[in-house]
Amino acid sequence: MSRISRIGVFTSGGDSPGMNAAIRAVVRTAIFENLEVFGIYRGYEGMIDGQIEQMYSNSVSNIIQRGGTILKTARSKRFMEKEGRLLAYQNLQNHKIDAIVAIGGNGTFTGACEFDKEFDFPIIGLPGTIDNDLFGTDATIGYDTAVNTVVEAADKIRDTATSHDRLFFIEVMGRDAGFIALRSGIACGAEFILVPETTTYIDNLARLLKHDWRKSKTSGIVIVAEGDDAGGAYEIAAKMKERVPELDTRVTILGHIQRGGSPSAYDRVLASTLGYAAVKGLLNGQRSVMAGIMDKEMVFTPFEKAIKHHKDINRQLLEMSRILAL
Ligand code: F6P
Repeated sequence: MSRISRIGVFTSGGDSPGMNAAIRAVVRTAIFENLEVFGIYRGYEGMIDGQIEQMYSNSVSNIIQRGGTILKTARSKRFMEKEGRLLAYQNLQNHKIDAIVAIGGNGTFTGACEFDKEFDFPIIGLPGTIDNDLFGTDATIGYDTAVNTVVEAADKIRDTATSHDRLFFIEVMGRDAGFIALRSGIACGAEFILVPETTTYIDNLARLLKHDWRKSKTSGIVIVAEGDDAGGAYEIAAKMKERVPELDTRVTILGHIQRGGSPSAYDRVLASTLGYAAVKGLLNGQRSVMAGIMDKEMVFTPFEKAIKHHKDINRQLLEMSRILAL
């Protein structure tokens, strides 16, 4: 095993609350282990452009509570090309960086896999995405905060929905995964939760809203994951209006507020624990793996498995949410 003496750290893909706490943990653990540590700006884009700077303990002071990422982030098209990856490799060589901690999601780890295969370069990943769609960790960094942001907003919407006897369709993030929708939906007592993992039968929903639901309720909330197979919140609300014209519907798209804000205590602790474990893991020869926590245990999952192995939502919870909203 070759000795690692300089590591790089970067954030990539969609930002998530807790990324700063993870950067802080990586930098301080690395310094404790007598490593030199370099921040790479704007993810793979900065690696290609050589935006790389040494970081010190005080570079990460006062950031554990801050949302976003001090290293900035990007989705890099250039890194998908061999040419871009070669430039990135040369820049790492110029800075004598011999291992990397990558904080991001699916796209980030797909790039990291390719890079290690091509250049035999040790990379360890931290799951940084609000979507919680990575296999190998019970929760990703930022997911808990995003869920809390949705619940806070949904509680406010509930007030006005009740006053006006309206049915609100609230769209939350999650192109391919319904984790945010399911958890926030349960927490805010949503009447219906629509997720990409299950088929949404529009006529069935219309029937429930027309007959059963109206018997006991005059207002309500439907949480829609943006990637639902029946469409986004606007589309689904329109289809409902067509079928049940007496409904007074409104739509709220929560959008990027879900990605911002100060991380919850849960996310700060998760990010700190994983950042610390990533550096220790690299020094113990771990590579091309993502650090995660499953059933309270630290686990390292190969990138390919973390990306491709599908983590399913808990369908029993979905069933439970329907019963509790009767
Ligand atoms: O992957 C995180 C995520 O927030 C998804 O939930 C969402 O679909 C996507 O990023 C939005 O990406 P962008 O900010 O690039 O529009």
